[in-house]
Amino acid sequence: MRISIVTGASSGMGREFAKQIDALKENDEIWIVARREERLNELKSQLKTACRVFPLDLTKQEDIDILISALASSGGEVKYLVNSAGFGKFGDWSEVSRENVNGMIDLNAKALVNITASVLPYMKRGSRVIEMCSVSAYLPLENFSVYAASKAFVLSYSYALRAEVRHKGISVTAVCPGWVETEFAACAHNGDKVNGPKRLKPMTSAEKVVKKAVRDACRNKPVSVYGITWKAMHLMSKLLPKRAMMLLWHGMQKRK
Ligand SMILES: NC(=O)c1ccc[n+]([C@@H]2O[C@H](COP(=O)([O-])OP(=O)(O)OC[C@H]3O[C@@H](n4cnc5c(N)ncnc54)[C@H](OP(=O)(O)O)[C@@H]3O)[C@@H](O)[C@H]2O)c1
Repeated sequence: MRISIVTGASSGMGREFAKQIDALKENDEIWIVARREERLNELKSQLKTACRVFPLDLTKQEDIDILISALASSGGEVKYLVNSAGFGKFGDWSEVSRENVNGMIDLNAKALVNITASVLPYMKRGSRVIEMCSVSAYLPLENFSVYAASKAFVLSYSYALRAEVRHKGISVTAVCPGWVETEFAACAHNGDKVNGPKRLKPMTSAEKVVKKAVRDACRNKPVSVYGITWKAMHLMSKLLPKRAMMLLWHGMQKRK
């Protein structure tokens, strides 16, 4: 049985990945994971491929264990693993709560690594890992520091993992979008008085970002970046000193 697993499938890009992987018709089952069960059931009713709903909080190890136990008893092989669950909170070091700081590290970095390492034994030649990263992985971001650091971790991990599993014929692609129209921005806003960027532009649709990500994963690309602005930023981050890039971001912050 061929299974694909998509985390963060109740919303935004995760939801879009589930739809686009469904359209590939390469799977016997798609497993969709997030906390909001009703959203997952609604998505299930829209997919043509058989679907299993996992209402799990991935910051809890016992919930990750439920997913992996189900995989062990299924006897299936995993075609696509998409780790899209993640969140960010704007604010300086004093404005983001301890709970949210730990949540970003636990979900964006720790859960992603645990799920990836637990699913890899069920992957074969031609299987694909897609790790949701961000353009924020390229540089330290004031007022988004922990989020950007968590994504820098994911980017570094994805490159190294890719080298480790290449001989097995498994691909790893880090997806690095700029701002995308999802629930992410509403969640990131941490109140009007909190430090953060003035505006989030340009915004792209989740559909376009995911379409390119699936295509890039199928072409075995290490990184997927959608849009000219964000490709330029990727290039600049390689050419310019970090300090210059950080000054650019500094200029985009709200003035108080
Ligand atoms: N949108 C952007 O501008 C943007 C840009 C670059 C990178 N990204 C990254 O892209 C990924 C997808 O984000 P998105 O834009 O699609 O945001 P989104 O619409 O807010 O989706 C986030 C998903 O993560 C799930 N999630 C949150 N906390 C969870 C938890 N504790 N356990 C399990 N699932 C959890 C949410 O589901 P529940 O709430 O139902 O659990 C939701 O399905 C994230 O990793 C994000 O960092 C986003």
